Amino acid sequence: MKLIVEKDYDGISKKAAGIVKQQIESNKSTILGLATGSTPVGMYKELIRMHKEEGLDFSNVISFNLDEYIGIDYEHPNSYHYFMKDNLFNHINIDMNNTFVPDGKAKDLDNYCKQYDKLIEKKGGIDLQILGIGENGHIAFNEPDEELNTGTSIINLTESTIKANSRFFDSPGEVPKKAITMGIGSIMKAKKIILMASGKKKAKVIKKLLEGKKITTQLPASMLLLHPDVTVIVDEEAYKG
Ligand code: PGA
Repeated sequence: MKLIVEKDYDGISKKAAGIVKQQIESNKSTILGLATGSTPVGMYKELIRMHKEEGLDFSNVISFNLDEYIGIDYEHPNSYHYFMKDNLFNHINIDMNNTFVPDGKAKDLDNYCKQYDKLIEKKGGIDLQILGIGENGHIAFNEPDEELNTGTSIINLTESTIKANSRFFDSPGEVPKKAITMGIGSIMKAKKIILMASGKKKAKVIKKLLEGKKITTQLPASMLLLHPDVTVIVDEEAYKG
């Protein structure tokens, strides 16, 4: 696991965007794995700037998102479909037919989950996966548990995640209780992974991850210790607390 510590949120955003840019410039048809949440917003802003000012070309890029709530309308500002359009897709020249966000409204969800993993494989696999990390160590919506899913699956959100995400909703009661998420195995198949974290709240979990001695399903992010190409990009607050 490679570690990069930047001064602040702006620093991690620019660093991560720089790596994404390099990846796209080395392969115009790059397959990106994208994340939602507060952490990648600054990176997306920087990618939009790179597109507008430096001509970074997304026209052949393909993207797969990690997760989506179940039981939420895609026009709802808190859906991840909406988030991706609002924070990235609407501002760059990506072909919307090449963007994939899990469909929590699919009729046969179990079958849909299988097809999502198959589609990633069929397109050639994710070249660069962007990840945030939950305060409880989750990656995507793979929550700490006795067992973790390998492939894309339906999961129940933990109380801690519902509480953390309630900041985006009017009340915790409005946060969906279920989600569809790429599994640990789907994530581990990515050729390269960047995990980003910012702020004091993440310091405890980042410390645990960087200790790097043990993997446990109670800290889903620890599975990344088994991956050959992970870069952890954190700001000083997430590093030192
Ligand atoms: P955040 O979420 O970027 O909003 O902190 C990260 C996560 O829960 O994976």
